Amino acid sequence: MTNDKGKYYISTPIYYPSSNLHIGHTYCTVMADAMARFKRLCGYDVWFLTGTDEHGQKIQKAAEENGVTPQEYVDRIVEGIKELWKTMEISYDDFIRTTEERHVKRVQNIFMKIYENGDIYKGEYEGLYCTPCESFWTESQLVDGCCPDCGRPVEKASEEAYFFRLSKYQERLTELFEGTPEFLQPETRRNEMLAFVRRGLDDLCISRSSFNWGIPVPINDKHVIYVWLDALSNYITALGFDDEPELYNKYWPCDVHLVGKEIVRFHSIIWPAMLMAMNEPVPSHVLGHGWLLLEGGKMSKSRGNVIDPVKLIERYGIDALKYFLLREYTFGQDGIFTNEVMLNRMNSDLANDLGNLVLRAVTMIGKYCGGVIPESKLPGEHDDELKALATGAAAKVEGFMDKFAFNLALEEVWALVRRTNKYIDETMPWVLARDAANKDRLDTVMHNLADSLRIISILIYPFMHTTSKEIRKQLGMWYADVAWEDAFVFDMANGEQVKKGDAIFPRLDIEKELEALEQLQESAQSVPLELKPEIEYDEFDKMDFRVGLILEAKKHPKADKLLVFKVKMGTEVRQVISGVADDYTPEEMVGMKVVVVANLKSRTFRGLESKGMLLFGENGDRWDIVTTTAPDGATVC
Ligand code: ME8
Ligand code: MG
Repeated sequence: MTNDKGKYYISTPIYYPSSNLHIGHTYCTVMADAMARFKRLCGYDVWFLTGTDEHGQKIQKAAEENGVTPQEYVDRIVEGIKELWKTMEISYDDFIRTTEERHVKRVQNIFMKIYENGDIYKGEYEGLYCTPCESFWTESQLVDGCCPDCGRPVEKASEEAYFFRLSKYQERLTELFEGTPEFLQPETRRNEMLAFVRRGLDDLCISRSSFNWGIPVPINDKHVIYVWLDALSNYITALGFDDEPELYNKYWPCDVHLVGKEIVRFHSIIWPAMLMAMNEPVPSHVLGHGWLLLEGGKMSKSRGNVIDPVKLIERYGIDALKYFLLREYTFGQDGIFTNEVMLNRMNSDLANDLGNLVLRAVTMIGKYCGGVIPESKLPGEHDDELKALATGAAAKVEGFMDKFAFNLALEEVWALVRRTNKYIDETMPWVLARDAANKDRLDTVMHNLADSLRIISILIYPFMHTTSKEIRKQLGMWYADVAWEDAFVFDMANGEQVKKGDAIFPRLDIEKELEALEQLQESAQSVPLELKPEIEYDEFDKMDFRVGLILEAKKHPKADKLLVFKVKMGTEVRQVISGVADDYTPEEMVGMKVVVVANLKSRTFRGLESKGMLLFGENGDRWDIVTTTAPDGATVC
């Protein structure tokens, strides 16, 4: 493989490790991987970067809720993310984590560079803040009073903060959008962003002092760098900018930042302006892809309706999932994910079209040619059409890949797959085989079939390299490297010994799979609670729970937090004390029927004895009493 086409640097967003990644993140990474593999195959020196964006309030909150430090929290999730990419054989060259030392120190350098150039200053921030998106918005940017990105409510926020002079770059950004139309694609996004810039740009708040999980501002340790300056810098800190600039000098500017449409604004406006403020070149292209939606709307981790790629891979394999994602959706547009569409696509294109073709070819070469791919001997009808399509496909694929039109590239390949299947039906080898006089023609048909499949195996390599290799193995071509230029020529197959293997894509029983997936996806929505260690029944049976009627309640004379109750349980009235004076007034609790742990050893609180304990449910920052309609004295079990 030669590397003479020059360099090609492609990145994905660095994902938030706030919880496990879902099919939407997988979609973006699969596209970037296919492009990286395609460019490598075409002879480019590729650098493919991905990673995780680990700072910010949202992560800090998630860690707190889980009772671990933010670093422990992200370490665990990042491990899972790396595991997913490893399983999927994502061919990234580097994985950057924003908590890594190399990133932290370089972000601080970047801050200082912009500061020293006069484009960072200290001011007072007053704005509307969307916590989930970690974005400040102006009144005019809100949609129906809510965050324009996620639609959730925003909060007024005000604090001392550092600002980046984004307003200064309005003109240069306008020039960038107007002078280099291909900088931001698709077109609709470019128009949106150009309009946004033309309306005028506010300076950008780039520090926060209300939380501390972030990179400290080098000149003021009360502040952490606000997440977008931190996050966007990953694209150059990973390249060593600017203390170890070897990779930077080689690969920057980035050829493609592949990002979802909701973060196009950050990548096409703020990021170029940051680079301009450092006198560094801006990326060549920012490409905004659409969202994968569910029938009910957006996938959301908090709504618990996300599709887990791991489950799909376990059932259908990596290549089937990648093929589906790349073939089904149109780049730049939103698409709806449904199990049914996925399964139908896998069955029709993979099991029926490609899987069948491989099986037919290898079986027939085995049967009619002793398992050895013959030479071409006697041309006939349909040959030229097949060859033209086969040798012309690679150039068309290149054309579509230039536009990130993965679906059209694959459609082109599948036109060849289907044409090759049709070639078998047209030439009818089983009829030719009846008469020895047709042997030369039969050999030629087998040869053409094998050679068309050889070309298909090259064309699918960037998208499904494992399947490509499997096909080559079955064709006896396992020894040869996949070379893109070999897809432009016919008649290379000759003398290979074919080797029948398993069906490359087994047929799926769609009804059965639909049911199984539904069950899987439902059970995934039920996340097990974190509980104390399991107990035996007889341990439970030792506890005597009784229904009690609260006859009286008053404050403990010597303790503000305690309430003292008189509780009637059948024949007995006794005194019980609970620490809920912050949550309940004595008056409101009289008359309630509650649950008492009646055989709990008695304790004295500031001179008053408590015999037993009332049950409360934890409810955020307060305790709610557990009430019942059962008669007082009743045993609870
Ligand atoms: O925004 N459909 O991280 P993030 C398609 N850390 N793509 C989707 C998707 C969906 N339903 N959901 C997510 C961040 N994605 C920042 C990025 S970059 C300097 C910082 C993909 O974890 C899509 O590519 O929210 C989107 O842009 C990205 O994941 C956002 O991931
Ligand atoms: Mg997001």
